[in-house]
Amino acid sequence: MKTIIEPFKIKSVEPIRFTTVEERIEILKQAHYNPFLIRADDVLIDLLTDSGTAAMSAKQWAGMMEGDESYAGARSFFRFEKAVQDLTGMKNIIPTHQGRAAEKILFSIIGGAGKFIPNNTHFDTTRANVEFSGAVAEDFLTEEGKQPNVIAPFKGNMNIPALEAFIQKTGAENIPVCFITVTNNSGGGQPVSMQNIRDTKAMLKKYGIPLFLDACRFAENAYFIKKREKGYEHKTPKEIAQEMFSYADGVTMSAKKDAIVNMGGFLALNDDALALKARNLLIVTEGFPTYGGLSGRDLEAISQGLEEVLDEHYLTYRLRSVEYLGNKLMEIGIPILQPPGGHAIYIDAKQFLPNIPPYQYPGQAVVCELYKIGGIRSVEIGSVMFGKYDENGKVISPPMELVRLAIPRRVYTQSHIDYVIECAVELFANRSSLVGYSITYEAPQLRHFTAHFEPLG
Ligand code: F0G
Repeated sequence: MKTIIEPFKIKSVEPIRFTTVEERIEILKQAHYNPFLIRADDVLIDLLTDSGTAAMSAKQWAGMMEGDESYAGARSFFRFEKAVQDLTGMKNIIPTHQGRAAEKILFSIIGGAGKFIPNNTHFDTTRANVEFSGAVAEDFLTEEGKQPNVIAPFKGNMNIPALEAFIQKTGAENIPVCFITVTNNSGGGQPVSMQNIRDTKAMLKKYGIPLFLDACRFAENAYFIKKREKGYEHKTPKEIAQEMFSYADGVTMSAKKDAIVNMGGFLALNDDALALKARNLLIVTEGFPTYGGLSGRDLEAISQGLEEVLDEHYLTYRLRSVEYLGNKLMEIGIPILQPPGGHAIYIDAKQFLPNIPPYQYPGQAVVCELYKIGGIRSVEIGSVMFGKYDENGKVISPPMELVRLAIPRRVYTQSHIDYVIECAVELFANRSSLVGYSITYEAPQLRHFTAHFEPLG
């Protein structure tokens, strides 16, 4: 087979700024060893997130000029509404400025004290919005999904028996909705099978609990289904995505991922009464229902992006370029969460740095070293992001200590990724000299964004 090339030509470019190792050592120190506090100009290859970092197409940019900025009833809204309805089959399409705004509105209505929201794995903002409402967020990932070394096709799957036992224990009346996140971002960008979505829906139906999809990366999930699940080989990604949505009663979406735009999101609902409440809240917090938190031009770009993301050449390149990085890291000897996910590679820092215990944040050590070596920005997904303290102030760590290298859509070429791989060779060579970190400042919620660190020793 020939090289899978980027399925686009580059028409507009943005220069990146080079720094020296000495400069980066100083920059890291100034940023308190937290990549979120580094200026983007000081980053060479930015793998912090695939969210809102995509390159838009010429057609999307053209759509920006077509944007109808009318306050009410804008043409761009109707194009957007049609695009989302066509894809999801949902009746009520509510634009929001990004995914978490859709979450905030939804959980403000259906959450609250005494309520429980199950998910295969909550993303951190989803969990934060559930908890902020007073409800409890519970994760039900299959056992294989929790094992970084197990190679399985659908490690994002919901653990349906555990979920059902939970429903029986908790009472269906206390569970307003159940979520499935596709792909499972916090669990490694791993897909959920159609079978699992269908079976989850069938089980929930017995208890009258609606199923919602957190659909940020629905197209990547659809393409994994095409590649890995029997019976879907000959379906188009769009047909597969439509079937995924057909089992759902509602959708929250961050368009900053699989709508290939820099800002946007939506809440899609079948339930008219719920939609009415959501629209009323939308008016208070986001804007009039035909624009939500968005400009008309954003709505145009999303509509176009939702079409482009389902192109098979795009999806082949997308999944292959992530897999390419993952395979090379494994060849070097750097353990990663297997198999490679749809939007990111997750380095298994616990296995890579066995000498740094989780309470000294081995993932943060990898993040800082990658920046120092090559100006590469990544993010820790482990004890920094999800760690809690027990009553004695001891860190309670999550099961995995990961470092995410998220690949922005259509932004970097293979030679950028080859450069990352060369830096990873150096990371591997330096592994025994890396030290742990301590936290010197942290906020009460979502501390990873603003925490300050100091290297130990
Ligand atoms: N759900 C999932 C699965 C996500 O990955 C994100 C964002 C959100 C919801 C919230 O969407 O950012 O538009 O408000 N994930 C980004 C990331 C931030 O880096 O993975 P948002």
